[in-house]
Amino acid sequence: MLNTGRMAQINPSILSADFARLAEEAQAVAGADWLHVDVMDNHFVPNLTLGLPVVESLRKATDTPLDCHLMIEQPDRWAPAYAEAGAGSVTFHVEAAAAPVRLAREIRAQGARAAMALRPATPIEPYEDLLPELDMLLIMTVEPGFGGQAFLDIMLPKIRRARRMMDRHGLEMWLQVDGGVSASTIERCAEAGADVFVAGSAVYNADDPAGAVAALREQAERAAPAHRH
Ligand code: DX5
Ligand code: ZN
Repeated sequence: MLNTGRMAQINPSILSADFARLAEEAQAVAGADWLHVDVMDNHFVPNLTLGLPVVESLRKATDTPLDCHLMIEQPDRWAPAYAEAGAGSVTFHVEAAAAPVRLAREIRAQGARAAMALRPATPIEPYEDLLPELDMLLIMTVEPGFGGQAFLDIMLPKIRRARRMMDRHGLEMWLQVDGGVSASTIERCAEAGADVFVAGSAVYNADDPAGAVAALREQAERAAPAHRH
């Protein structure tokens, strides 16, 4: 079911969709690799979105696997339940996690891919030894909390360093970017080594969301460094 062989995966963020029509909005991006679901608790970030019941319903409303990005306090307590609810990938923020290794193992034990996210000011270096426990690393390219913010170019060196680190360890893991990813920024992310791209406003504000997904994927695949494929 998962397009794991894909060179560039595009994950539309339903944060920019119409929350009253989520099933239809999921259908509108049927060609997407994953549906990115932003869970916010108004504590870890200053915004409140949705939680487990919505994820459970969305799971039944679409065949596209769910990529749940938890911007919440106490992910140790809540994240495994998202995997149990049927999310294909569960991302917790390392800044909020008490025991990230144990948490990643619990997510995997529930059958989901485990991912860890870094806010813009959080460096990757302290977490080098944790990478084998993860299926994906998320490098935030905006401060988490809201869609439609400007891409932070200053994150590109961190993306490059993270990809080099993964290569050095021989890890096949995915590197996701989230925040301000659009037609004008996706190539820089791909060149730097990202291979999973979250796009909210760039997809859902487009006249043709499915077309925007396809166009972003093509741009990213063209810009990806040749040695990666
Ligand atoms: C922001 C969320 C993002 C958001 C991205 O905190 O994690 O997933 O939806 O939106 P855009 O692509 O509009 O920056
Ligand atoms: Zn997100």
